[in-house]
Amino acid sequence: MAFFLVAVAVIFGFCMLCTALFRWNEIRYSNKSLPPGTMGWPLFGETTEFLKQGPSFMQNQRARYGNFFKSHILGCPTIVSMDPELNGYILINEAKGLVPGYPQSMLDILGKYNIAAVHGAAHKYMRGALLSLISPTMIRDQILPKIDEFMRSHWSNLENNVIDIQEKTKDMAFLSSLKQIAGIQCSSIAQEIMPEFFKLVLGTISLPINLPNTNYRRAFQARKNIVSLLRKLIEDRRTSKKIQQDMLGFMMNEETNRYKLTDDEMIDQIITILYSGYETVSTTSMMAIKYLHDHPRAIDELRKEHMAIREKKRPEDPIDYNDYKAMRFTRAVIFETSRLATIVNGVLRKTTQDMEVNGYIIPKGWRIYVYTREVNYDSRFYLDPYTFNPWRWLDKSLEYQNSFLIFGGGTRLCPGKELGVAEISTFLHYFVTRYRWEEVGGDKLIKFPRVQAPNGLRIRVSTY
Ligand code: HEM
Repeated sequence: MAFFLVAVAVIFGFCMLCTALFRWNEIRYSNKSLPPGTMGWPLFGETTEFLKQGPSFMQNQRARYGNFFKSHILGCPTIVSMDPELNGYILINEAKGLVPGYPQSMLDILGKYNIAAVHGAAHKYMRGALLSLISPTMIRDQILPKIDEFMRSHWSNLENNVIDIQEKTKDMAFLSSLKQIAGIQCSSIAQEIMPEFFKLVLGTISLPINLPNTNYRRAFQARKNIVSLLRKLIEDRRTSKKIQQDMLGFMMNEETNRYKLTDDEMIDQIITILYSGYETVSTTSMMAIKYLHDHPRAIDELRKEHMAIREKKRPEDPIDYNDYKAMRFTRAVIFETSRLATIVNGVLRKTTQDMEVNGYIIPKGWRIYVYTREVNYDSRFYLDPYTFNPWRWLDKSLEYQNSFLIFGGGTRLCPGKELGVAEISTFLHYFVTRYRWEEVGGDKLIKFPRVQAPNGLRIRVSTY
């Protein structure tokens, strides 16, 4: 009996403590100038609910508090913004103090010159340097031939095999970027750099616990290894004095390139390119294969487009810029895949000072989560939003509307948009003109917080 009474007292005490902590946290953030919302537990906030319930947590909060509410997720007091117009405003106002708000742990792994880690003039310079590497002219003359050569061989000899399309598109995204960066030296460094890069990626999405055997600690070691590999590559090229026709060659060429970067800046720029185009390109490619498999009319139309291009060429002729520009339906498939799968849920900003947004005062250091996922399923912008309908994108104006935030917006609009679309288009070209495919079946797909197939997505490939 005594034990029972003690147990009840302990449970009662625990409940009281929890309620008190919960209340204390609400009171702490109950400033009238803040938007409505709940803050959850001290320290942990509402992270567990957010990660467990995902999109429905956001929808519930929106139903209660509207399109602009406060919460405490991923270790930081956060304002969630779902209003398309307000999102546009936040994204163009970096100069007023709305800078990228990605976790410091992630930026530490990606490097201090990584584009997301720099603001103001430094950002303008690094972004300018990047844009000069991936301009339409560079894509046409330098990059597309490399992409073509790579895709043609990466997607060959697959007939009568079962492949994991998730793994294969991940390798594709990494190796295709590496070829653009390091050209003919790609094959000699790929084996060494690839496993290190995968560790680095894992560390950026893991808990920032800096202890032995954690993904976070491993990512730091991986970064060190990648940096020393790239440093050696740069030094070897300098010694050989031969100018290579690839991104690194262009960065190092002081005569033709007006952006002068130090070796450390070049290395972080390379890591930026590898990292930014990795998961976005690979997951969109995997999901395109999934949706096309499920929609025979769309695959027929896509194949028609690519067969028409192939018919005008000899088998060894590469895809050129005019071919790429003619791939209208392919572009539509890529946008519809990104929209329906929501490859990117949103982007993060943080305030560098107390500032007024939407009539509220947001304190310095708070995060703003520009949550764009819901816009993708808003029937005001997309009729019948849960249907895979690439045809909707043939009306070009849809790509230029404020609601189109698949590639972000404002000062940080994705500079790799055309490069990413060109890579996925070339992949689809070789895949649909060579093969048909069936899903093996039974593989699970998770849509949140990242789109992924936890055990892979297996398809059986046969000759078309
Ligand atoms: C389908 C493919 C892609 C998607 C969906 C995508 C999406 C995005 C989004 C949403 C942003 C905005 C991030 C923010 O505002 O914080 C962004 C930025 C960025 N993307 Fe992409 N991206 C893709 C491909 C690529 C590729 C291939 C590259 C390679 C160069 C790239 C490089 C970047 C960089 C460097 C930024 C940061 C720009 C800045 O901070 O100024 N992206 N991307």
